[in-house]
Amino acid sequence: MTETVSGLMAQIADIGRDPVRGGYSRPVHSAAETTLREWFVGAASSRGLEVETDRNGIIWAWDGDPADGAVVTGSHLDSVPGGGAFDGPLGVASALVAFDQLRDRGATGARAIAVFPEEEGSRFGIACLGSRLLSGAIAPEKALALRDPDGLTLAEVARANGLDPTRFGRDPAALRRIGTFLELHVEQGRGLVDLNQPVAIGSSILGHGRWRISIAGEGNHAGTTLMADRHDPMVAAAHVVCMVRSVASGIPDARATVGRLVPVPGGTNVIASRVDLWLDLRHPEDGLTRYLVDEIGTRARELAAEEGCTALVSEESFSPTVDFDPALRDRLSAVLPEAPVLGTGAGHDAGVLKDHVATGMLFVRNPTGVSHAPSEYVEDPDAETGAAALADCLEDLLKDTDRKH
Ligand code: GLV
Ligand code: MN
Ligand code: MN
Repeated sequence: MTETVSGLMAQIADIGRDPVRGGYSRPVHSAAETTLREWFVGAASSRGLEVETDRNGIIWAWDGDPADGAVVTGSHLDSVPGGGAFDGPLGVASALVAFDQLRDRGATGARAIAVFPEEEGSRFGIACLGSRLLSGAIAPEKALALRDPDGLTLAEVARANGLDPTRFGRDPAALRRIGTFLELHVEQGRGLVDLNQPVAIGSSILGHGRWRISIAGEGNHAGTTLMADRHDPMVAAAHVVCMVRSVASGIPDARATVGRLVPVPGGTNVIASRVDLWLDLRHPEDGLTRYLVDEIGTRARELAAEEGCTALVSEESFSPTVDFDPALRDRLSAVLPEAPVLGTGAGHDAGVLKDHVATGMLFVRNPTGVSHAPSEYVEDPDAETGAAALADCLEDLLKDTDRKH
């Protein structure tokens, strides 16, 4: 079979398009993501790969018999709301093409493609939920109780999608099967554009986390409540958003974002009774991230009080800064001597798995430098170069599994 990455990406180009936001909205276990999962299962099965969905909803496609210490690649198929086409699916399509090339080259050794659910955390709020469950980084009770914006729990949604929630949780047998995990991903910045290179090797992931700031006030009537009588959490939230930017701007390398704000009940002629907003905060030094959260929390409570409101800050997730396995990184550099070594500010399953198995990443040039937005892009020739680079790296790593098996 000689399929190309761009050919595979074209097969899924119409799945999950968002007519309102633009781009793609493919939340985990939605109709769109389910269709993508079915597409992957079909593409893997037609190649003779053995496909199984594990108890956490991670799809594995094995070339040959499953074995401990295998070389694993893959990514995710879910997206942020209104996201680009490449964040996640590029790594999955490239994995399929790389596996074709490995077969053509006669490579042997245990290998699999993994597709991780809810990498973005755009439905249940916590990113990399599949790899966190697999590795035990999140307790299954906590994960299963998470609710989506419609109030459905992960347990309910999983059950409706044929998974058994009572079997969710740390999966040592599945973890043991991963000897090395190498994830290919679209670059989410301009590093490769500036260096005029198609492929990079990942060095690190910026520490990052998500905090909910809940500002409570007094719901009331927009027409009958005098300005002086209001306790309007939306006004406090507006001050908090500006404060977040000014606090983070004072700390070199900090990145702070409020990308989601939900007024309750959310009516045009209603003063909100509560506003929830989510802080996404990232910094290379985890201690500084902690300091920033404390500072933002203190100031948010002060700003809320000035409006006669209260503010409550709760941590939803935190992932420390990750340095990928240095020996693996050097080995990838030996296979791809031209490829620069770049860090990223974006989170990935390879970061979550890093404490359990050797993980590394490859990034493919994105000419716009934009990600989590419709203009995220990869040129066709770069996509094919990326898949060939992935095949080269996997082939090299497979030499070890050949020795072991
Ligand atoms: C995932 O893409 C993230 O960095 O939030
Ligand atoms: Mn991604
Ligand atoms: Mn993403």
